[in-house]
Amino acid sequence: MPTSIARAHTNIALVKYWGKADTDLIIPQTSSLSLTLDQFYTDTSVTFDERLTADQVVVNHQSLSPTASRKVRHVLDLVRHQAQTTTFAQVTSQNHVPTAAGLASSASAFAALAAAASRAAGLTLDRTALSRLARRGSGSATRSIFGGFVEWQAGHDDATSYAVPFQEHVTWPIAMVALVLDPHRKKVSSRQGMQASVTTSPYYPAWRQVVAQDLAAIKPAILAQDFPIVGTILESNAMRMHALTLSAQPAYSYFNGDSLAAMQTVRDLRAAGTACYYTLDAGPNVKVFCQAADLPTITQRFSAQFGADRVLVAHPGPGVQWLSEPLTD
Ligand code: ADP
Ligand code: DP6
Ligand code: CO
Repeated sequence: MPTSIARAHTNIALVKYWGKADTDLIIPQTSSLSLTLDQFYTDTSVTFDERLTADQVVVNHQSLSPTASRKVRHVLDLVRHQAQTTTFAQVTSQNHVPTAAGLASSASAFAALAAAASRAAGLTLDRTALSRLARRGSGSATRSIFGGFVEWQAGHDDATSYAVPFQEHVTWPIAMVALVLDPHRKKVSSRQGMQASVTTSPYYPAWRQVVAQDLAAIKPAILAQDFPIVGTILESNAMRMHALTLSAQPAYSYFNGDSLAAMQTVRDLRAAGTACYYTLDAGPNVKVFCQAADLPTITQRFSAQFGADRVLVAHPGPGVQWLSEPLTD
């Protein structure tokens, strides 16, 4: 069978997914809304090969841990089932984003895998079906099938839980400045962390209400390009998600000292008249939502604080795409 290569970009959640209603099918407790980013992506190549006696998975030139390769095999099994084949696959993937550092490598990884594996197996899935397949690998990957602003509609079962584009073509001159404060692998994976929050944080019921309110408020604000409202919502939503880590039993946190310092800098910039807002996923790396016109002020400030090599500027990015040329690195 032919090789198929796909590229998917990561996304940053503005209203976050933090908890599963069904851990096997990855049905979330709430809907969520994200922005796909142009700067960070994964390229994945898949070939089903009758000579193989097991799936071979190489990511960033290394074989995966047993837990990580199980997630890939799970998605491949779903593809094999749909394509009615038992052939094993060679999977080669390259992350152009730090892996497991809170920069959503699992989102780009499983969106790219869903696209490459399904096409390599001869399936032609529409984007809704791709979104559902990506979801089975990692929840945030559900949204990375689409570009721009994307909503993952929680649904209640496998058929009804998928992402839909909210605004795929973004004309709003906004940017997301990613501060790579620590590119290393986090100690608590998103999967473990959110499950601990669901089962042990007394604030979890309140979080579900927060998400419903934030989604209802952020959608019209995005359409109206109302920067302060969108920024205020995404910042408070992120802090309330992280409150679920601090309120879990045992408590944990994804923040490090630099994360706290970066958040303070955002507040200082704001006080001095430069509108910008912060968000963090499950990791210490802060992302700063800003208007393109303010990029010079903001990047200079963070470059002085952390070094220019740690300051990356991302813009709205595209949905998943297939690449025709084989991977070279
Ligand atoms: P992140 O913040 O990077 O999304 P997660 O804990 O959600 O962190 O996910 C990291 C996990 O995603 C890795 O441990 C691995 O299981 C999986 N992963 C990351 N990149 C790839 C890839 N290119 N191919 C397959 N699995 C990947
Ligand atoms: C904080 O999608 O990485 O980034 O579904 O267990 O693979 P799994 O978790 P993952 O969790 C993402 C959490 C988040 C918020 C978000 O992206 O919505
Ligand atoms: Co992830």
